[in-house]
Amino acid sequence: MSAIIIGKFKNMIKKDRGEVTRNALSGISCAFVPINKKWAVKMYWDEETRDETYERQAGAAAHGVAPSVGACFDLPESDCPEDYRYGYITEIVECGSEVFNAIYGTEEYWAIWTEITDDLEAAINWKFEDFGFGNVGRKNGKWMCVDFGNFKMRTMDQQKERYAKR
Ligand SMILES: Nc1ncnc2c1ncn2[C@@H]1O[C@H](COP(=O)(O)OP(=O)(O)OP(=O)(O)O)[C@@H](O)[C@H]1O
Ligand SMILES: [Mg+2]
Repeated sequence: MSAIIIGKFKNMIKKDRGEVTRNALSGISCAFVPINKKWAVKMYWDEETRDETYERQAGAAAHGVAPSVGACFDLPESDCPEDYRYGYITEIVECGSEVFNAIYGTEEYWAIWTEITDDLEAAINWKFEDFGFGNVGRKNGKWMCVDFGNFKMRTMDQQKERYAKR
């Protein structure tokens, strides 16, 4: 399994070094790499972020309010594309502009926002502060958070350190 993941991930990243977003959906901290129709890996460049994110998603998934999770894994430094060494496996849910734009700004949208934040507060006592496009998705008709990362901007030093590695 990990060989397949490493192979897929390297292919996606290597096509365009430095332009991770071109081949892997990527936000500020995570590269999202589908493995098949149902499962993807989420790769992070620091272990702590991966661990915290994984713990929250696993906890919420146990209450049915997050995509399911598989294992965590670390890529060896010598065999790692870019600096995304730390990953975990996630279930893929419906996510993206098509599902999001269909509800954006409607009464349903505000209700979903409230429901998701309440769900997470009840399940894992976590305040979801980054509601919006790309951070929520739908599984069997139920809307849920897909981004369990910390909602914080990196410091300039952290950003510089990261870009120096590219
Ligand atoms: N479980 C999932 N199912 C489907 N798509 C997902 C899932 N998790 C993440 N994605 C996709 O990957 C993108 C990046 O994931 P995520 O939002 O967790 O990363 P991030 O780096 O924390 O993002 P940002 O900081 O920009 O909000 C998401 O915007 C979404 O398009
Ligand atoms: Mg996000």
